[in-house]
Amino acid sequence: MPSQSAAKVALVTGGASGIGRATALRFACDGASVVVADINANGGHEAVGMIERDGGQALFVQADVAKAADADGMVRAAVQRFGRLDVAFNNAGIVSAGVTTDALLEDDLDRTFAVNVKGVWLGMKYAIPQMLAQGGGAIVNTSSIRGLVSYGIQSAYSVSKDAVIGLTRVAALEYASQGVRINTICPGIIRTPGNVNYWKHFPQAEQDWLKLIPLRRYGTPEEIAEAVAWLCSDQASFVHGHAMLVDVGTTAE
Ligand SMILES: NC(=O)c1ccc[n+]([C@@H]2O[C@H](COP(=O)([O-])OP(=O)(O)OC[C@H]3O[C@@H](n4cnc5c(N)ncnc54)[C@H](O)[C@@H]3O)[C@@H](O)[C@H]2O)c1
Repeated sequence: MPSQSAAKVALVTGGASGIGRATALRFACDGASVVVADINANGGHEAVGMIERDGGQALFVQADVAKAADADGMVRAAVQRFGRLDVAFNNAGIVSAGVTTDALLEDDLDRTFAVNVKGVWLGMKYAIPQMLAQGGGAIVNTSSIRGLVSYGIQSAYSVSKDAVIGLTRVAALEYASQGVRINTICPGIIRTPGNVNYWKHFPQAEQDWLKLIPLRRYGTPEEIAEAVAWLCSDQASFVHGHAMLVDVGTTAE
């Protein structure tokens, strides 16, 4: 399809793996130049290599989204290399341990909030001034179905993803009249390297989670990438402050 992201510059955090990687490839497929930011250098370089092999332009920046200097650095790198920043997908995230609230460790809660909440806030903090200076842009932040419904464990993860929706709504109101559109994506359960790794440690979870999904199959990273690409495109010009569920009805029950 011709490129709705042609000549755009997109930044993807957590772009080394899973949903982030699939979305980086999708943006590139649409003609965007892509900055892949991640703590995982091997996966990040691999994603960049895949884009370049397909004839696209990409740059890897090693960054911990929970660190202000790194978040600032990834935006600066995008502007330095490609001259602007049109799209920011604040997607890097981690899960907290699958335990009840009393068993949750303080360090686990702190790190989950640092990456999932502070990381998204920092991503917006440094992308927005650049977008305002250019006259506009589009931001998508990754939440989860877990930001909307609870399954009774992983309170740190659930609350962090709830906070992403809240942060998005506040920022959406703040920049509504200035051309920066800001939305949240709430994926259902997706077969990503992160989940496959979790299922290695908790094999029963792979069967149990499937029962939560009306379609009885896990989503693919590409199915989320498709929705993110649309949210970031000019076709979504009237979509702002929205938390978009892509979960085949998992939360409809
Ligand atoms: N997979 C699912 O079922 C699912 C469902 C809902 C929401 N999500 C959310 O989607 C996002 C992507 O998850 P995924 O499933 O693709 O996971 P994944 O583990 O495959 O990929 C996550 C990426 O984020 C990177 N990352 C982690 N901490 C980072 C940090 N501090 N700084 C920079 N990069 C960091 C990892 O290195 C990895 O490359 C996460 O925010 C996750 O919470 C996933």
